[in-house]
Amino acid sequence: MNLIKKILATQAAVLALWAVSAQAATNDEIAERLKPVGEVCVQGEECKGIETVAAAAAGGPRSADDVITKHCGACHTAGVLGAPKIGDGAAWKARADKEGGLDGLLAKAISGINAMPPKGTCADCSDDELKGAIQKMSGL
Ligand code: HEC
Repeated sequence: MNLIKKILATQAAVLALWAVSAQAATNDEIAERLKPVGEVCVQGEECKGIETVAAAAAGGPRSADDVITKHCGACHTAGVLGAPKIGDGAAWKARADKEGGLDGLLAKAISGINAMPPKGTCADCSDDELKGAIQKMSGL
């Protein structure tokens, strides 16, 4: 366990240097994101995904799929708590009509609405990243 912690701490420190200029991520957040990579490396296998982690830490925009997989899908895949389902165009369109289009939906996604948490739990998502995810889920 100590070895894993040490490796994680080292990687977190390196990534923190990259992240400082790009986004306000805390070391804890970076260490959290790195966890799976650190574990894979400790087991002596290839460090799969390290480029992805580096890109995210460096502030490169995340793809809609990435945001949906990591954040939105938890509720929007199965329609948990009444969330409009991914690909259910009619449900999304009804909401878009009510909120004044895609930008209205984006505003609600940012502020949160009822059981939908602010930014859909992606606290460090940019407006564009959220918008991309909404477009992809709704087909709008
Ligand atoms: C914890 C569950 C949960 C997560 C995670 C979640 N949502 Fe939602 N979302 C909901 C629920 C529930 C609703 C329906 C809220 C209502 O109208 O009562 C909703 C509704 C929405 C709406 C429609 C808002 C409106 O004005 O009708 C948008 C847009 C949306 N979510 C975007 C996202 C995006 C983008 C993400 C990922 C970044 C995300 N959600 C993650 C639960 C979630």
